[in-house]
Amino acid sequence: MSVLRQDPLEAKPHTAVYRMHKYFARRPWNVFSSLVGQYSSEGDIVLDPFFGGGATIVEAMKLRRKTVGVDVNPIAVYVTSMECAPANLAELNSSFNDLRARVENELQSLYRTRCSKCGAEGVADWVEWDEKTKRALLMKLDCLHCGSVEKKADERDQMLAEVIEGDFDGESKGRGCGFLRRKFPGGTRRVRCWQGISSPSTSSLREEIYWLSPHCAIRF
Ligand SMILES: C[S@@+](CC[C@H](N)C(=O)[O-])C[C@H]1O[C@@H](n2cnc3c(N)ncnc32)[C@H](O)[C@@H]1O
Ligand SMILES: [Zn+2]
Repeated sequence: MSVLRQDPLEAKPHTAVYRMHKYFARRPWNVFSSLVGQYSSEGDIVLDPFFGGGATIVEAMKLRRKTVGVDVNPIAVYVTSMECAPANLAELNSSFNDLRARVENELQSLYRTRCSKCGAEGVADWVEWDEKTKRALLMKLDCLHCGSVEKKADERDQMLAEVIEGDFDGESKGRGCGFLRRKFPGGTRRVRCWQGISSPSTSSLREEIYWLSPHCAIRF
């Protein structure tokens, strides 16, 4: 019989596999991983009769448990089956590269700005925006020559920032969702411009799929 741990576990942010969806029941994966680790052993069967966003099932699979999952909501079943479905890694990679070849240049062209160090064209990563004056203050860009550069926003950046702001507002209203905006003390906020098709979140999602796929035996 296991003994309850004394030290409290702090919930960690969702990893990429849980950020794929917005199903309401997303439990903190690290807490469930710890519970599964504490109360079962490799090869045991873990049952979650109300699996919701799938954290118990996915974490149990990662710990080499056999899993059985049930949920009355078809969205939960779809989401969790997608989280657990074994991916054809070669196909995934080739679809990813295909998508990248088709859209990357076009999308990047919407976020072009000038590098303040060498004068070459770069791609804006984020812009810091003053809420009160509606002016772009700072911009971070990726330059082919200088790498990551932070600069004072110029007039061209101001126009770019206005387009990005307008697009974000329109999109978020239309879809009833929020975009990445970090507020700073003093009324400024950062708006992500270009996350890139190979941004950290897409790469970590692929890494997680790579990791899970060889161990995945679940079928719905
Ligand atoms: C809070 S979530 C579960 C979270 C999940 N155990 C986890 O660890 O992430 C509750 C889930 O129970 C499901 N549910 C509610 N009543 C149910 C029932 N009678 N049979 C199966 N699933 C049910 C809901 O659809 C919902 O997805
Ligand atoms: Zn440069």
